[in-house]
Amino acid sequence: MSKKIILSGVQPTARPHIGNYFGAMKQFVNFQTTQPDAEKFFMIVDYHALNTVQDAAQMKQFTYDLALDYLAIGLDPEHSTLFKQSDVSAHTELAWIFDTIITMPYLMRAHAFKDAEAKNKEISVGTFNYPVLMAADILLYGTTTVPVGQDQKQHVEYSRDIAQKFNSIFGETFHLPEPMIMEHVGTVPGIDGRKMSKSYNNTIPLFATREEITKAVMGIVTDSGSDIPTNVRAIHALFKSETELTALYDANKGKYKILKEALIEDIDAFIKPLRERRAELAQDPDRVAQVLKQGAVRANERAQAKLIEVKKAIGVL
Ligand code: AMP
Ligand code: TRP
Repeated sequence: MSKKIILSGVQPTARPHIGNYFGAMKQFVNFQTTQPDAEKFFMIVDYHALNTVQDAAQMKQFTYDLALDYLAIGLDPEHSTLFKQSDVSAHTELAWIFDTIITMPYLMRAHAFKDAEAKNKEISVGTFNYPVLMAADILLYGTTTVPVGQDQKQHVEYSRDIAQKFNSIFGETFHLPEPMIMEHVGTVPGIDGRKMSKSYNNTIPLFATREEITKAVMGIVTDSGSDIPTNVRAIHALFKSETELTALYDANKGKYKILKEALIEDIDAFIKPLRERRAELAQDPDRVAQVLKQGAVRANERAQAKLIEVKKAIGVL
């Protein structure tokens, strides 16, 4: 069997939230013990984020913060290559090559594009091309497994399609990746019951302070028609077993305040050590730069080798 290669990325667009963590980032860390022999690449996809973050100071800050977040949740740069997408120019180069073999109608079928269009948003070419750059991210490393939340499933399918199309035109070059989506946490709900999302203002930040947790939980939308506040319980399920939850919610039917207070305690108990670890790591900002530099060297080595293979396949080298 060929080696497992695991790769994923997070956009430095805002603070990560517990949906990002349970849906994706937690798995990145778990692989260190469950898949010790797999190669692992985790990215800060700053060129994807450039579609929405168009301010240099903000881009720098979000990128640094996200690197610190990755380290604070326990990502070990000796086991996993942590790098910034823009440090590896092969990604954008390969994206261009893919641009020449796929069509506009094909990209127009992407959910993200259709949603933006339905809202009459002005769509940048970068947003339209988002799945192409993502395919390049994935395919450059011979990735077998892409751990992501449910909302990224279609993007991983796009990268499979693009790999297949390239292979059929230029010969076998790319491995077809599989998405890996966790059951139950593939779509973590936000405080309004919709998907938790950086762009919906409905998040509980992963490194939230106690005050922020309290404010967010108190703001969870409850439907007074029921004994069990569904939205509160759905978020609570991330922190307690089903048996514990049933006991707690049965004993406190209709007592929304008590249930919300219990949720605040559980979230805070979970986040507190993460917050502390992050504060500790923040004492040494040079370490972040050093980790990203080392990651860029490793990633470039792999990506360049693949890009040379691609260039030969298309006849420019
Ligand atoms: P993003 O912040 O869009 O870069 O997302 C980073 C990762 O978190 C991706 O794998 C997403 O699929 C995942 N993700 C984002 N929101 C959620 C959510 N509400 N539930 C589960 N996973 C999510
Ligand atoms: N599109 C992903 C998101 O918004 C981020 C991403 C970019 C990614 N490139 C990737 C995820 C490659 C997995 C693999 O969450």
